[in-house]
Formats: sequence, C-alpha cells, structure tokens
Amino acid sequence: MPEIQPPIFLATAIEAAIRAGDVQMANFRGDMQVDKKGAIDLVTNIDVAIEREFRAMVAERFPDHVVLGEEFARTDAAQDVPRYCWVFDPIDGTTNYAHGLPIFCCSVALEHDGVPVVAAVYDPNRRELFTAERGQGAWLNGEPLRVSSSATLIDSLLVTGFHYNIHRDPGELMAIFTAFITRARAVRRLGSAALDLCYVAAARFDGFWELKLQPWDVAGGALIVEEAGGIVTTVNGAAFGSRKGSVLATNGRIHDEMLGVLRSVC
Ligand code: IPD
Ligand code: CA
Ligand code: CA
Repeated sequence: MPEIQPPIFLATAIEAAIRAGDVQMANFRGDMQVDKKGAIDLVTNIDVAIEREFRAMVAERFPDHVVLGEEFARTDAAQDVPRYCWVFDPIDGTTNYAHGLPIFCCSVALEHDGVPVVAAVYDPNRRELFTAERGQGAWLNGEPLRVSSSATLIDSLLVTGFHYNIHRDPGELMAIFTAFITRARAVRRLGSAALDLCYVAAARFDGFWELKLQPWDVAGGALIVEEAGGIVTTVNGAAFGSRKGSVLATNGRIHDEMLGVLRSVC
C-alpha cells in the first residue's frame, strides 16, 4: 500500500480541529460537568467527548495510527514514539473554558517517527485556524505566517504559562518570571500554550517559554512556529521534542538573549 500523503493528514487535522471548535462553542458557558484531575487541574465532559470523537475518527481512517491525547493517555504513553502518532489536546485552555473566558483552542499534530509533520490549531472564538506542514510553511486562515522582527528583549512582548504544580513548586518559575518582567517590554499569560505558540508564529508575541508542558500542549504549535520562521528549543537550548517538557519558542532574533536570561536563573 502506498504511503498516504501529508495533504490527507493535514485535511484530517483541520477537520478535527474545526469539529472540536464547533463542539466547544456549542457547550461554552453551558451546563457542563467540571471535574478535578488535581487540586487546580480541571477536566470537563466536553474535553472527554471531543477526544472520544477524535479517536474514533483516527481509528476509522488510519487504523494503524496511534493517538496520544490528554484525556485518555496511558501514564507511560507520552514516552512511546510510534510510527504515526496523532498528538491531540481536545481543549487547550480548559481552565479558561470552565470559567467562561474565551481563550482556548483545540490542537492537533501528526508526528511521524517523533517528528511533527502537520499541525492544526483552531481558536473558535476568533475563528482563527493556524496550520502548518513540515517544509511547506505555516498559515493563518490560509494566509502565510511570519514571525516578528524584534531584535532585543526590551522591545519584545513575551508570554508564558504556569504548570499545575505551581502551588507546590513556585520558586524557579517565579525567579524566571521576575527575570523576564524586568527585562522585556511586557509579559502576558493567556492560559493556552498552543495559542501562545501560534501567536509567536503570527508575530503577536516575540517569545514564549514554559517549564513543564505535555506533548499535546506543544506538538502542533511548535511546528507552526518553526514553519513561520521561528526557533523552538527546550529552555536549556537543546533541540525541541514534544516529550521533553520545557519549551522556548521565539522569532529567532531574541532566542540567544532569552537563553542567556534563563541560564542566569536556572
Ligand atoms: C494548559 C495550558 C496552559 C499551560 C499549562 C497547560 P490545558 O493546558 O496550555 O496555558 O500553562 O501548562 O497544561 O490543561 O488547558 O489543556
Ligand atoms: Ca493543554
Ligand atoms: Ca487540555
């Protein structure tokens, strides 16, 4: 059987992300069920329903592919690197979603031997669809994306996020936050890592860092940043990998300056 071509994969990623957005909006601010996976880590019945539907779609279209999704992941699954792996976050920004704050999205990526090949991130509130295909570029609603041209931190707008262990372990996180708010033009915190990454790709932010992320938070957005001309590494400057935990994504021009700040604190 011939290898299936990426356009079919990208079409599936787009269809899944938009379908997820439709379900998100149909239930937004409605009577949803909110449960806790940890003290501050929420999950709604909508997260679960969207992921269930996505898994059925992949099983029907690509029965030999694996799905790594947030809500049905085995605890060891994030370490597997299967041949074709769909990395899926049904709602990135669940805390915002559960509170009625319209900043959330669905993130879909397909990894081939651990390398993201296509990505789709859909924000249904703004009807913004961010897509990328490895080696072909990144787009917002079909228009090519390009990262910003800011060359220094003092001229940069940054964004970050806080992991769900922050109550237990705020020290390093706050030291880094302090270092950046005293050097950059400003720092924002939106509550959706996938949108943070897409906004770096779209030149709305110049840089994004976060310490402890999961594959489904970053796999899609990282490819979109790279295909928009940005650079993505770990916060130590090592090559990016969706299972490595930390992420530093920038327009490229401020990457070394941000790495220098991170090294001075970590
Ligand atoms: C979270 C968001 C948030 C980030 C957290 C993630 P979730 O994902 O991306 O911005 O700071 O680390 O876990 O739980 O909303 O899917
Ligand atoms: Ca997430
Ligand atoms: Ca999620």
